Amino acid sequence: MTRKKKVMIAAASIVCVIIIALCILLIAAAIVGRELKVNPSRKLDGVDQEVQDALWYSSIAANSHNTQMWRVELYPDLSRLLITVDGSRTLSVVDPKRREAYISLGCYIETMSAAFDAYGYDTHVQCGDLSVQVSYSRRDNATVDNSRLALIDKRHTDKSGYHSDRIKQDAVSRLLNKYAALSIYQSDSDSFTYLKQASMDAVALQSADRAYREELAQWMRFSDKEALDKLDGITADMIGLKGVVKAFYYWTTTRESAKGDKFARQGIATAKSQLDNCGAFAVITGGNTFEELIDVGRITQAFWFDCADNDIAVQPFSAALETEPFSLSIDNDLGLDAPIQMILRLGYVDSYGVNSGLRRSLSDYIDVIR
Ligand SMILES: Cc1cc2nc3c(=O)[nH]c(=O)nc-3n(C[C@H](O)[C@H](O)[C@H](O)COP(=O)(O)O)c2cc1C
Repeated sequence: MTRKKKVMIAAASIVCVIIIALCILLIAAAIVGRELKVNPSRKLDGVDQEVQDALWYSSIAANSHNTQMWRVELYPDLSRLLITVDGSRTLSVVDPKRREAYISLGCYIETMSAAFDAYGYDTHVQCGDLSVQVSYSRRDNATVDNSRLALIDKRHTDKSGYHSDRIKQDAVSRLLNKYAALSIYQSDSDSFTYLKQASMDAVALQSADRAYREELAQWMRFSDKEALDKLDGITADMIGLKGVVKAFYYWTTTRESAKGDKFARQGIATAKSQLDNCGAFAVITGGNTFEELIDVGRITQAFWFDCADNDIAVQPFSAALETEPFSLSIDNDLGLDAPIQMILRLGYVDSYGVNSGLRRSLSDYIDVIR
């Protein structure tokens, strides 16, 4: 064989090896980058199927860092639930006073009342001392309202970039009429510019803080396996990564690297792009007692259902409320006479999507008591 032929065969072999390696990489990326499918147990032994199902839908509620910080006692013979905060799942760095935990509990209770209603049950909610009691009773001839259940599944946090168009005025007017605690600032207003700047500055300050980074990293998930083992926290899917990008993120990010400067810089860049790409901010005000914060959570969740129904994408943006000095001056600067408890980024997207449904099995946090 001539030398030229040998060189050509060697070159062809190298090209083949590279192509095979690329194919293997692409197949692996396609497998790792598949959408996460969650199938936790909805079973609670000896409890009516509809109540089990309603409790499952209740858990598809907004909650800070998806820690699902609720504990539930279910008294099936009394048709009653007692809901408290699970202190092992609260966020001591960003939420030392449990403000967001109580709001999250409110979101859970509002979703619960929507879910029970969809299954044909009336609910009665009563706030106690750091606990909430929910009693339920089945209406006569009730049928299941599947469109309501679909709305619970549709509502989710969308961290992607939105179109910058203003929110349609008729939707804004309807929402403002419905919720007294709500203000909406369209993207061409001074208050929007103020909130955007405060949020950006707060994100930069938080990202530089070691304790903040460690707490966030604890609730980030770094593989589908970890997400399915723990059934909580924030996955690649929930931050909007799909396919090869999701695979690359899981291959290159560890809990340790997520505490580093590079990850923090990426977080700041993502926040900037999120804030540059939205149509408005919504702000929800309310008092600071347990009961008032439960109310704020209920209003937030109900408002979010309405947004989903109107195809308005939503992402809470809590950094400015979690960080001084921003949290100290924001109410005054916006001229509001009650404390701001939630800031939410709003906008329109091409494809609305659905909730990832990453939630724990019911028996993980519900004690059935007879
Ligand atoms: C009180 C509260 C504060 C939140 N703050 C933020 C936030 O600052 N940034 C963000 O992206 N999501 C935030 N979220 C959204 C949660 O991360 C989200 O609800 C949770 O991961 C569950 O996902 P889901 O809303 O898609 O069901 C917040 C939610 C609540 C209830």
